[in-house]
Amino acid sequence: MTAIALAGLVHVYPEGTRALDGVDLEIPAGQRLAIIGQNGSGKTTLVRHLNGLLRPTEGRVLLDGRDIRSLRVAHLARQVGLVFQNPDRQIFAGRVRAEVAFGPRNMGVRGAELDRVVGDALTAVGLAGQADTNPYDLGYSRRKLLALASILAMRTPVVVLDEPTTGQDARGVARVQAIVAALTAEGRTVIAISHDMEFVAEQFPRVVVMRDGRIVDDGPPGAVFAPERVGLLASTGLVPPPAARIGARLGLGATPTEHALLAALRTHRR
Ligand SMILES: Nc1ncnc2c1ncn2[C@@H]1O[C@H](COP(=O)(O)OP(=O)(O)O)[C@@H](O)[C@H]1O
Ligand SMILES: [Mg+2]
Repeated sequence: MTAIALAGLVHVYPEGTRALDGVDLEIPAGQRLAIIGQNGSGKTTLVRHLNGLLRPTEGRVLLDGRDIRSLRVAHLARQVGLVFQNPDRQIFAGRVRAEVAFGPRNMGVRGAELDRVVGDALTAVGLAGQADTNPYDLGYSRRKLLALASILAMRTPVVVLDEPTTGQDARGVARVQAIVAALTAEGRTVIAISHDMEFVAEQFPRVVVMRDGRIVDDGPPGAVFAPERVGLLASTGLVPPPAARIGARLGLGATPTEHALLAALRTHRR
């Protein structure tokens, strides 16, 4: 089943910027997809169409085959959870627990069940001990994790993450990775925008590359980061992850991850 389909999607902002210039994309249910591309290429504009925050100027957004224009806002909110790039645009409550409870409570979750989903989401992001803290007493990286928890608690079939690893140290990145893996294990669709090419290559079987409001490449990390495609990637202002660059230098072919690089080195030595 196709969770999301974009057809001929164009978005022109009121002052005239054509941020999306005809995007076609099909995302099967349960897929894990990364969107990469330089600043201003249209990534955030694209994902903001997935939960109805932005309306297409032209083209269509289909959710499970239905045009989202025909869906009620409340229904859409149950289907697609979007974690903003900037947590401070998302967070509004005075306590961590209240922030995370807001979404599920709005969806009718109450009592012990509400405590459970809030507790699970806070545990997943490592904030269980901060439930009574004011979000603004947390550092930036923890506010980002809080914004993520508040979407996780809504248990939407589609989860969209806009730059989830920005500002995270290695431990925070590992948490985000574990969450992405757990969402996939539950069969949910995960779409993440990221500048972190290592995170992308390690965690996402499909990578979509954007440039100037269009999709210019789409494939597994082994293809998108392959030596033959470096020129295309460079035209978007990006460089492949370190393992891919080392593999290319050594003439080992496509080695998007450390694991792939080590495997290629072992084979090569024989
Ligand atoms: N709210 C907005 N109003 C006007 N222009 C915008 C707005 N948001 C983004 N843009 C413009 O749209 C283009 C795409 O931006 P964006 O989708 O944020 O790209 P990315 O997420 O890839 O950095 C850029 O030229 C940006 O300046
Ligand atoms: Mg963006």
